[in-house]
Amino acid sequence: MTQDELKALVGQAALDYVVPGSIVGVGTGSTVNCFIDALATIKDRIAGAVSSSERSTERLRAHGIAVLDSNTVERIPVYVDGADEIDHHGNMIKGGGAALTREKIVADIADRFVCIADESKLVPTLGKFPLPVEVIPMAASQVARRLKALGGEPVLRAGVVTDNGGHILDVRGLSITDPAAMERDINQWPGVVSVGIFARNRAAVCLLGTSQGVKTLSF
Ligand code: A5P
Repeated sequence: MTQDELKALVGQAALDYVVPGSIVGVGTGSTVNCFIDALATIKDRIAGAVSSSERSTERLRAHGIAVLDSNTVERIPVYVDGADEIDHHGNMIKGGGAALTREKIVADIADRFVCIADESKLVPTLGKFPLPVEVIPMAASQVARRLKALGGEPVLRAGVVTDNGGHILDVRGLSITDPAAMERDINQWPGVVSVGIFARNRAAVCLLGTSQGVKTLSF
């Protein structure tokens, strides 16, 4: 199976986790695009969506799915999103598509994070994929210095401005052996909007697309 076929497979499989009549949390990325297309087939059975990016909002609306303001929604049962890496405890690196901050906000109002990914994303230790950190532009150099002091090699993602007006530093060379601690530390630095480690808001379930079909990992 191609990677695109694996993404379509898990996008479809995630429909089993959608609670009928509820508002669905929707992430961002190419795998989530498959989920959005699948969600459109049951749009009459949901109360709408909360979206994590302008891109996903546009796709949801094009399918006729109502997108609600996250400030009007207290809790949602399920948030479905992809990942750049996921470990065997459900910790993830996210933000390859620069949507990490809004993804974390929507994940935070959800009871359950359902991660959809192809099997190439499953790793023993996070950090091979460059860690995205969203920063307020005037803090980029100082945050980069702090990341270097941690042993990382940060590079400003050229030409990218996030939906929140932030910039992204992509950090190579980190071996993230304690994701929760590193998430906490980096989040505290002045000028950091959010870090792409999802340990606090880690996945409860991962639907992994493999050549043998969808493998369900529960954490
Ligand atoms: C978006 O900012 C990311 O967190 C995506 O969820 C992640 O990059 C996975 O994207 P793909 O599904 O396109 O691999």
